[in-house]
Amino acid sequence: MIDVGAKYDKIAGEYLKTKTDDTLIFARKLEEQLEPGSRILDAGCGAGIPIAKYLSGKFEVFGIDISAKQIELAKRLVPNAKFKKADMLEPGFENEYFDGIICMYSLIHVDRRKHLEILRKFYELLKTPGYLLVCMHLEESEGEEDYLGTKMFWSGYGRKRNIELLKKCGFTILWEKDWANPRDSNDRHLFLLCGK
Ligand SMILES: C[S@@+](CC[C@H](N)C(=O)[O-])C[C@H]1O[C@@H](n2cnc3c(N)ncnc32)[C@H](O)[C@@H]1O
Repeated sequence: MIDVGAKYDKIAGEYLKTKTDDTLIFARKLEEQLEPGSRILDAGCGAGIPIAKYLSGKFEVFGIDISAKQIELAKRLVPNAKFKKADMLEPGFENEYFDGIICMYSLIHVDRRKHLEILRKFYELLKTPGYLLVCMHLEESEGEEDYLGTKMFWSGYGRKRNIELLKKCGFTILWEKDWANPRDSNDRHLFLLCGK
C-alpha cells in the first residue's frame, strides 16, 4: 500500500508548481455561506495554495495534512493560517469546532472504505449550521498511477454512492458541480457543497 504522505513529502515542490487560482471558485462557494471570522478546516490542505491562502484573508483557517513537507510549505506560504500535520481520520479537534470544512483533492487519496468514517468525522467537527465543500470521484475507481515522477494512490466511489454516503452522515446536498480542470481535462471531479 502506498504511503501517500511520504509521496507528497517527495513531490510537494512539483505539486505546488501546478497550482493556479482556478479552484478558488469552490472556496468562494463555501465563503458565500459563512460570516467573516468563521472558523474553517482545510482538510488535506497541501501547501495551502490557493485555498487556505485565499480563505485566510477573511476567516480563521486551520489546515491539516499528512505530509510534513506540505505543512512546512503551508506554514511558510500562508502565515495567516494555522497548520499541523494530521491525518483527516484523526484530525485532533473537538466536535462542533468549525463553521466550514473544505476538502479539495485529498479525500480521493484515502482508501474509499474509510470515506464514510471521514465524512462522519467532518459532520461531527461542524457546528450547526455548518458547511462542507468536498471534492470526490465522479466515477468509481481505485488504483495507483504515475504522478509527478512517483507512484500515487487514488480511491473513490461514483457520484451516486458518494451522495448516499454524505446523506447517511446527515448532510444535505446544497449544490454540486461536475468540474474539469481547464488545464487538464482528465482531471475531472465531483464537487459538493453540503450543509449540516
Ligand atoms: C492533491 S493534494 C491537494 C492539496 C490541496 N487541498 C489542493 O487543493 O491543492 C492532496 C493532499 O492530501 C493530503 N492527504 C492525503 N491523504 C490524507 C489524509 N489521510 N489526511 C490528511 N491529508 C491527506 C496529501 O498529503 C496532499 O497534500
